[in-house]
Amino acid sequence: MNQYNQYEKTQPGHFYAIGVGPGSPDLLTLRAVALIRSADVIIAPRSRIAAKSLALETVQGLIDGQEVIDHVYAMTRDADSTIQSWAQVADRACERCSSGQSVVQITLGDPLIYSTSCYLLALVRETLAGECVHVVPGISAFQAAASLFDQPLTIQEDRMTLMPATDLARVEAALDHCETLVLYKAGKRIAEIADLLERRGLAGCAKLVCYAEQGGRQFTSSDLRAAAKTHHGYMATVLVHVGRRTWADNE
Ligand SMILES: C[S@@+](CC[C@H](N)C(=O)[O-])C[C@H]1O[C@@H](n2cnc3c(N)ncnc32)[C@H](O)[C@@H]1O
Repeated sequence: MNQYNQYEKTQPGHFYAIGVGPGSPDLLTLRAVALIRSADVIIAPRSRIAAKSLALETVQGLIDGQEVIDHVYAMTRDADSTIQSWAQVADRACERCSSGQSVVQITLGDPLIYSTSCYLLALVRETLAGECVHVVPGISAFQAAASLFDQPLTIQEDRMTLMPATDLARVEAALDHCETLVLYKAGKRIAEIADLLERRGLAGCAKLVCYAEQGGRQFTSSDLRAAAKTHHGYMATVLVHVGRRTWADNE
């Protein structure tokens, strides 16, 4: 039998946090496709400011009878209210699992990288047995963004740092400790990042990628100063090529 026809289906009573990649349906893994197709319930989180779930849009072609729970959450930096909001979803997920249904939570990119899945996984693990909780990796935004340019993220002894662009002092400190710096949540900070990179002599060393692999919304620029004149929204990643650290540097 063709091995591509026999991927694992969801099991009754199990919970799956599934990364659906950056937004293009053909960047889903085969495992993700089989599990999403066979799920009883799909939880699709979206922030209050988003009109629709980009993760759900990505897997729309796989929805055929599964119950879809549209979970709207507030984008807050308050840890207590974040946990509270996810506790309600975790309760619903665990109830469904206890009644023998399989539940999938879909998330953009990978579930363990700055993802809402991290909250949900911690909470469902309080109720469900460990063997009933699964994580399915997805292609992260930084990988999708880098693949739009023919520049390696890391080779030889290079170090890569992935961090949010929220605190520019920390971003500047990171420049001293890596050869590649990946900045998530960069949309509101493009001008400040451009200032910083100019000051550090790295003005020509950054790429901005917005909505990578999301069809006509995809935008790339190698000129942050020019790009800063436009509003870029939440799905914005900056890749900074700080330098190279070769094997010889360690000798
Ligand atoms: C909450 S994090 C989600 C990260 C995701 N779990 C991953 O593995 O890449 C959101 C940030 O990821 C980045 N991001 C996610 N999808 C993206 C895309 N398609 N294009 C560019 N950046 C993206 C943006 O920097 C955005 O602010």
